[in-house]
Formats: sequence, structure tokens, C-alpha cells
Amino acid sequence: MSLSEVAHLSQLQLGKFEVSFDEIKKQREYVSFAKTVLESRFGGETPLAFVHTFGCQGNVSDSERMKGWLSQMGYGFTEVIEQADLVLYNTCAVREHAHDRVYGNVGALKPIKEKKPGMIIALCGCMMQQEHVWQKIRKSYPYVNLVFGTHALHRLPELMYKVLCGGKRVFEVENCDGYIAEGIPVRRDGSFKGWLPIMYGCNNFCSYCVVPYVRGRERSRSSLAVLAEAKELIASGCKDITLLGQNVNSYNRDGGDLNFAQLLEAINNIEGDFRIRFMTSHPKDCTFELLDTMARCEKVSKHLHLPFQSGNNRVLKEMNRGYTREKYLSLVEYAKKVMPDISLTSDIIVGFPGETYEEFRDTVSLIEEVEFTSLFTFIYSPREGTKAASMPDPVSRKEKGEWFRELTLAQEKIAAERCKKMLGQTYRVLCEDYADGRLSGRTDGSVMIDFDGDESRVGEFVNVKVTSCRNWTLSGEII
Ligand code: 5AD
Ligand code: SF4
Repeated sequence: MSLSEVAHLSQLQLGKFEVSFDEIKKQREYVSFAKTVLESRFGGETPLAFVHTFGCQGNVSDSERMKGWLSQMGYGFTEVIEQADLVLYNTCAVREHAHDRVYGNVGALKPIKEKKPGMIIALCGCMMQQEHVWQKIRKSYPYVNLVFGTHALHRLPELMYKVLCGGKRVFEVENCDGYIAEGIPVRRDGSFKGWLPIMYGCNNFCSYCVVPYVRGRERSRSSLAVLAEAKELIASGCKDITLLGQNVNSYNRDGGDLNFAQLLEAINNIEGDFRIRFMTSHPKDCTFELLDTMARCEKVSKHLHLPFQSGNNRVLKEMNRGYTREKYLSLVEYAKKVMPDISLTSDIIVGFPGETYEEFRDTVSLIEEVEFTSLFTFIYSPREGTKAASMPDPVSRKEKGEWFRELTLAQEKIAAERCKKMLGQTYRVLCEDYADGRLSGRTDGSVMIDFDGDESRVGEFVNVKVTSCRNWTLSGEII
């Protein structure tokens, strides 16, 4: 969005969470200050930034905004860390694995920085919003120059300017309910697939999850801002837009002109040949109205990512999910009724504290009943500060690993059966990648297919007939 459009929006409505137009204008001034410093420091050569993102699409989208700022400051981008003058890690706190990888990666930067002392190392994102993390970085990683949390993303120019001029370490980790900042430039990673955040934060406090603590309270972007960005994406050739939020079904819950179903329809009504996806839907807030809207809107993918986490009611209650197995299944039943070709995917946690094997089997029976296209399955990982982290957790990691494999095997069978049913059918596929004479892309239902084709077709929709299926991998040909 242009600055004048932002100013216009700001005058129209400055919601509780919105960052003022003046603040963004101030940040734009810092962009030019930082640019001047960089120009004199690099004598006209382009300084290079290595930006790496851990975690979910929300983080990917945040990184696109930070890259927008950096590119306005004059940074180019590199994939080779040793070439970088700035290394920025956007971190994830959702599970231990991502968390540990960040420490590993930051540790590995030490010898690189010793050879290149001018390198700036910056860490941001969810992990940095946790006090025990930034304290550890402050104490044990003295070569890290800049640390900022999720609430300070819009102030990157100011923070970079401070680092560039002051030479001191900068920590900006204020804990607050978060902001919505319009008018940040975006440097998108892809030209035909676009991430479009519609809301930030989460109010749900599922007992295992750290997100509400590090991302603040739920807040929705104005529908004007979302629609303006959607139009911009479509005009620039984007064919696949994914609307992002921790719980998109509660978009504008605290007031606003459109609810989520209405927003979806408004985007569907924009002229052009494109697809709309969204994630993540929370079953407790998923409505029949939304499912009807999906069914009616021809540009909305018939794909629903609806995490159920556990198939057992006692475990769901302990997780504070706010729905039962029966409610989940009734949503699935309705979705299948109004969209017979619907493709369902989900997130699952195996080995929640206190879960028994019998309770875990309820999860297996649920996936068999629903027949998901694919699943994202995680072994429970305790997160500091969450309610579940203090619950007794008697089942060993080894046993949870066995349950995990059991679930994976069950899903592989289901996926193989689903793939077999796709044999001989024709699907509209967006060509996403090319390698060695083969294209690959996803169907409307988010199933990957590969097929022969020319690289020039990447970014185009083609009709592909499925000709072979090995387990759950599909191949086809353009018709
Ligand atoms: N342990 C394991 N998985 C988790 N998730 C969130 N928190 C945890 C945790 N502590 C999973 C949930 C969520 C997905 C994004 O990550 O399944 O839907
Ligand atoms: Fe975490 Fe639950 Fe919020 Fe999703 S809905 S981000 S799992 S607290």
C-alpha cells in the first residue's frame, strides 16, 4: 500500500492496535538515515543480508515485510551466509526442535563473525519475545548485535539505525499486546504465491501452546487494508493467495465490518484468475456459514486445514480446545455434504501430558473416519510458561515415538487409498516448481503432482491427468 493510502486509512479508522501513520512515517525517515550510513560505510557497494525464517507462514510473511524494510535501506540479499553483512534470523518458539535449531545456528555464526567483525547479527520473532531466551542471548551470545520481539517488527529501521550508529547491542523486547502496522513495504519471496496476513495474535490459550504469550492478543487488520493488499497481489500476477491468522474464523470478532466468511467472499469477488486459501481455522469457531461460503465461492480452494489435535474428549478438554470430537466430526460431515470434493488436512499432537494409549487410539480412529489428505503430526513438546508444561507427563519419549509411527502408518494407508482414487482424473494444477524437465504443483485440494513440462509454465494453471500413483506420490501429464 502506498503511504498516501495508509494515511487515508489511518484517518478513516485507527483501531485499538493500529500503529499511527506518524510512527510509520518516522520509520521511513529512519530508512533514509540508515541508507545514508550504509552508503558511506560500503562506498557505493550493495551491503548483503542473509534472512532466514524458522516456523510457520506467519513468520514467512513477517520476514517478507522485514525484507521490504531492508531492501529500502539499500540491502541486497544473499543465500550464502559468509557473504552477508547482516544475518537476520526470524525465530520460532512453538516446539523445542525449532528452538534448539536457532541456538545451534547462532552458535555457528561465532567463527564466521570472527573472520568478519563488521557483520551484524540480528535475532527476532517469537523466541525473542520470551524473557528466558533474550536473557540467555544477552549473557551467552555477546556477538549478537540486535534482538527484537514480534511487537517491534515495524520499528526495524529505527533499530537498525541504532545498531549502525551506536555500536552498542540493542534489545527491544517489550512485552505488549501487539500492534498492527500498515504501510510497511513488502518484498515477496514468490511472484505467483502470496501470503496475506488478515489478523495477528491469539486469544485461545490452548494449554500446550506458547503462541498467545509471544504474539499477543488477537487483532484483525481492517478489511479495507486486506482487500487493498489482495488487489495489489492479484494485479502483480499472484495466482495463489493464502490468508493467514492463528484463528482466521475469529476475524473481526471484536467488531469490524466483515466477518471471515464475508471477507472471503469479498476477495472472491475481485476480478482475476486466482485461488484463495486460508489457514488456520479453529474448529471451535468454524461455522456452517464459512463452509457454505467456501462451497459457493469458485476461487476459494476446496481445501480446509482444520487442526483437531486429538480425537479424545478428555484430552481435548485438557488442551483447552473448546470443542469435542463430535462437534469436529459434525463440521467435517457438513463440509463433505456441501463440498463433496473437499480436501481436509489437520495438525495433531501425539503424547500430550497424561494421554493414555487408549486415548491416543481415538486420534487414530478419527483420522480413519475423516480420511484426511495429509497431516502435520507432532510429538508433544513442553513449552516454558504454558499450563501443560506443569502437568504430569508419565509416558516416555520412546513410547510416544512408537505412537507417532503408528499414526503415520495409518495415515500413509489412507493417503495411498485417496491417491488411488485420483488415478485417471484430471485436476487444475498451479505449476510451482521445475527440475530436470519435470514440473510439479498442487491441486486445488493441495495435493502435489509432478508431470513433464517446460519451465516457462511455472506460475500458470494447467490441467493435469493423473497417470500413475506410487504410494502417495502422484504423477501425471498435461492435457
Ligand atoms: N508441542 C507439540 N506441538 C505443538 N503445536 C503447538 N504447540 C505444540 C507443542 N507444545 C502444534 C499444534 C499446532 C501446530 C502449529 O503446532 O498442532 O496446531
Ligand atoms: Fe496455539 Fe491454540 Fe492459538 Fe493455535 S489456537 S496458536 S494452537 S493457542
